[in-house]
Amino acid sequence: MTSDERDDRLMRANQANWDARTPVHLASRFYGLDGDPDPSRWFAPWEWRDLGDVAGRDVLHLQCHLGTETIAFARRGARAVGLDFSAASVAAASGVAARAGVDVDYVRANVYDAVEALGGRRFDVVYTGKGALCYLPDLDRWADVVARLLRPGGLLYVVEFHPLLNALGPKPGPGEGPELLLRHDYLGGAGPVHRDATHTYTDGPAVEGATDSYEWTHGIGEVLDALTAAGLTVRSLRESDELPWPRWPQMVRTPSGWWRLPEPRIPLLYGLLAAR
Ligand SMILES: C[S@@+](CC[C@H](N)C(=O)[O-])C[C@H]1O[C@@H](n2cnc3c(N)ncnc32)[C@H](O)[C@@H]1O
Repeated sequence: MTSDERDDRLMRANQANWDARTPVHLASRFYGLDGDPDPSRWFAPWEWRDLGDVAGRDVLHLQCHLGTETIAFARRGARAVGLDFSAASVAAASGVAARAGVDVDYVRANVYDAVEALGGRRFDVVYTGKGALCYLPDLDRWADVVARLLRPGGLLYVVEFHPLLNALGPKPGPGEGPELLLRHDYLGGAGPVHRDATHTYTDGPAVEGATDSYEWTHGIGEVLDALTAAGLTVRSLRESDELPWPRWPQMVRTPSGWWRLPEPRIPLLYGLLAAR
């Protein structure tokens, strides 16, 4: 089996896993989709400052899941498209948008097939992140797809969990305390990390069916190199010590309503703006 064939097999496992997670996420308090969804809670104020006015722009949200972020672009006047390879996610996202009275086009496709799936359509902004890149085995191929999706001058905005956050884990042992240690790779290249988890990151019941998933670690240098090789120009790289939800119990609420770790201050999220 070639490495491409192996990656395709692992991504199919991920697709089944995301289909299985979707009903749990849709009903969860974490995503809060039973009433009128509030997409603003998933965005840091600096994201809108970096992106500028999106009204009248063509915005593509890659790996959109339930569309909780996608609808924010439509509400700000963009022509918004969400793409995800999970059929259950795309169906759920369409329902969320319809109930919220927001106009979004949803497309079911693997990111790597996005150019063909979108019929060659080009965008002013491609937005992705907050748990997206870790499901992609090959960032060079991803960056090439993004470059082909953007109009000349178009912007890519990746807002992603910092690899330092992903490298941290609680000190093992009985009665896990608040101490965090460097327990996982920061740098990529070691191959996929296999997880078999009956519970997902939201509240709610166990995931039924496909519980296997695979993730790939990508250091920030790897992301920058992939984008540069695809011909994009990096405009800014912002590191933030705040997350939209408390990843660990010792995290404290900030004045913005997000969460950070007590001292020392370390980056938990990054925002990378690049232009074609
Ligand atoms: C954690 S969500 C990220 C979206 C959003 N930030 C959120 O938190 O809801 C990850 C999404 O990536 C999608 N995904 C994973 N790998 C993909 C791929 N190769 N192509 C398209 N979608 C993919 C999954 O189906 C899932 O909906």
